Amino acid sequence: MEPDFENCQTSLMAYCRRSPAGIPACRSGRVRAGHAQGQRMVPLKMAKNIKLRKMQTADLNTVYNLVQTTIQISYADTYPPEAIEFFRNYHSRENILKDLKVAYIIVAESDGQILGTGTVAGKDVGRVFINPEFQHHGIGKLIAEELERKARSQGLEKLELSSSLKAREFWESEGFVVVKEFALPVANDKQLIYYEMTKQLEQQRG
Ligand SMILES: CC(C)(COP(=O)(O)OP(=O)(O)OC[C@H]1O[C@@H](n2cnc3c(N)ncnc32)[C@H](O)[C@@H]1OP(=O)(O)O)[C@@H](O)C(=O)NCCC(=O)NCCS
Repeated sequence: MEPDFENCQTSLMAYCRRSPAGIPACRSGRVRAGHAQGQRMVPLKMAKNIKLRKMQTADLNTVYNLVQTTIQISYADTYPPEAIEFFRNYHSRENILKDLKVAYIIVAESDGQILGTGTVAGKDVGRVFINPEFQHHGIGKLIAEELERKARSQGLEKLELSSSLKAREFWESEGFVVVKEFALPVANDKQLIYYEMTKQLEQQRG
């Protein structure tokens, strides 16, 4: 059954109200605590009325640019340039388009602007990227929950993903556990460290 995206519509203010710490916590020091002194700060913005919908072919350039920009900005303080180049090539236009034919790709929109994206193909979750200016406002959580809902609707019992160093705590907060840490050799003898993570899905009854 196709999802009812009307029910996915939400306001980030509503998300923040649901958060135990309330709105101030959503914009709090924890956001900035992730940025050590001297590292690049990205000004945060509030997004309202986030709507999730399926990605269309017409979104290709926007989604590609969102993913590429997020890799450049969000990984700059974590990965060597060679690993960033690997990520950028991995998330090429061609690969996004390939996935569009076989996977369930969603985008999160606010006022017609795409702020985030995520993909699930069977049990494999991937390419979850949020515009750096709008990270830590609950958009990633909305996307993760929708991808999980899709997997459950297909009767799947677990989800798997490869997490960046940056995203490990986010995925742990979504109930994923690390299975193994990997070091992928990239150019110039550098490494791209990532985690294989998994989440068991209990099928909901009723
Ligand atoms: C990781 C990412 C997808 C998370 O999306 P987001 O919209 O920023 O995250 P959310 O605001 O939905 O966070 C939801 C919860 O995850 C946890 N969380 C998110 N980022 C976290 C971090 N860096 N450290 C610790 N906890 C984190 C928090 O518990 C948060 O809940 P709270 O706000 O109620 O405390 C996003 O920050 C991103 O695109 N990062 C760069 C690219 C990336 O690494 N993508 C994942 C590839 S595997």
